[in-house]
Amino acid sequence: MDTKEALLSQISEPAHGSSNKVTVVGVGQVGMAAAFSILSQGVSSDVVLVDVVADKLKGEMMDLQHGALFLKNARITADTDYAVTAGSKLCVITAGVRQKEGESRLDLVQRNTDVLKHIVPKLVQYSPDTILLVVSNPVDILTYVAWKLSGLPKNRVIGSGTNLDTSRFRFLISQKLGVAPSSVHGWIIGEHGDSSVAIWSGVNVAGVRLRELNPAVGTENDPENWKDIHKQVVNSAYDVIKLKGYTSWAIGLSVASLASSILRNSNNVHAVSTYVKGLHGLEHDVFLSVPAVLGAGGISHAVSQPLSDDERENLHKAATLMAEVQKGLKF
Ligand code: NAI
Ligand code: 2OP
Repeated sequence: MDTKEALLSQISEPAHGSSNKVTVVGVGQVGMAAAFSILSQGVSSDVVLVDVVADKLKGEMMDLQHGALFLKNARITADTDYAVTAGSKLCVITAGVRQKEGESRLDLVQRNTDVLKHIVPKLVQYSPDTILLVVSNPVDILTYVAWKLSGLPKNRVIGSGTNLDTSRFRFLISQKLGVAPSSVHGWIIGEHGDSSVAIWSGVNVAGVRLRELNPAVGTENDPENWKDIHKQVVNSAYDVIKLKGYTSWAIGLSVASLASSILRNSNNVHAVSTYVKGLHGLEHDVFLSVPAVLGAGGISHAVSQPLSDDERENLHKAATLMAEVQKGLKF
């Protein structure tokens, strides 16, 4: 009898598996920030990591496991073999190349489409009921690619989209007003990044719309230049990449907030990338962000947000751009 047998008398076979298994593919800066946020907030206690670089993967797994004492009953596993992902409720895709200084997100499109070709079919093979959350860039186009590659219904293929841009927007407005980001209500929709659309017509604090106080808010004619905040949102990633080489913490927290709404079936509304044909008069087969209700089945509803003429026009321009880029893709 070894020490374990002397200590423990088996009564039954221990149960395996969990109801909140999350796979994170890609253990780079974004994948690890997402995994860390998910674990440290107790969003999931069962996190699986996958990557193609075996040593780095093992190192990241071990480093997280060594902190298990400080987490909430966390099970952290990792493998280059997708069998380890079987039964995942949510698969987060963060694998692929990131922008170097001077590159745009769209410059990555074919390289990361090729990466997704290796990942998506395997995730779906082992977890046919999963929800896919795409984070790799350009996220809106790669969400479309993942949808096509997966064969999953559109409610179960989601892009992290402008949940991050919306957080940047609310943070920057909160700084200008001196109130908490959670008390500033405003949305960035459309493409994650360069052609995103700020919905200035709806920005409010406690239901008081800034446009009621200053009708020029968000326009070129505004003496207070609120519009600059949206420029800062668009430049955020470029600024951070110039300073530290990549962005990680904010997107990690953003992913954890989306994972929480899905795994806890909370029906929170987030700006996420979804199939938008038919919404706001859009006719292209594209994914863009709109406020959407997130729960255990993925996206259940898109919010019918009133848009000004300018806002609608800019959203349509983004859809046309996405469709043009998609036309040239090989997958
Ligand atoms: P990184 O270079 O630090 O990590 C990428 C990881 O992907 C590496 O560990 C690499 O080994 C892995 N990988 C590459 N090919 C793979 C494959 N076929 N299967 C499994 N793993 C594979 O990059 P970082 O900074 O983590 O960025 C990842 C992606 O996330 C980039 O495309 C970046 O642009 C995007 N991103 C998206 C954001 C968003 O808001 N949607 C925010 C920040 C970054
Ligand atoms: C970000 O906005 C680069 O898409 C990434 O942080």
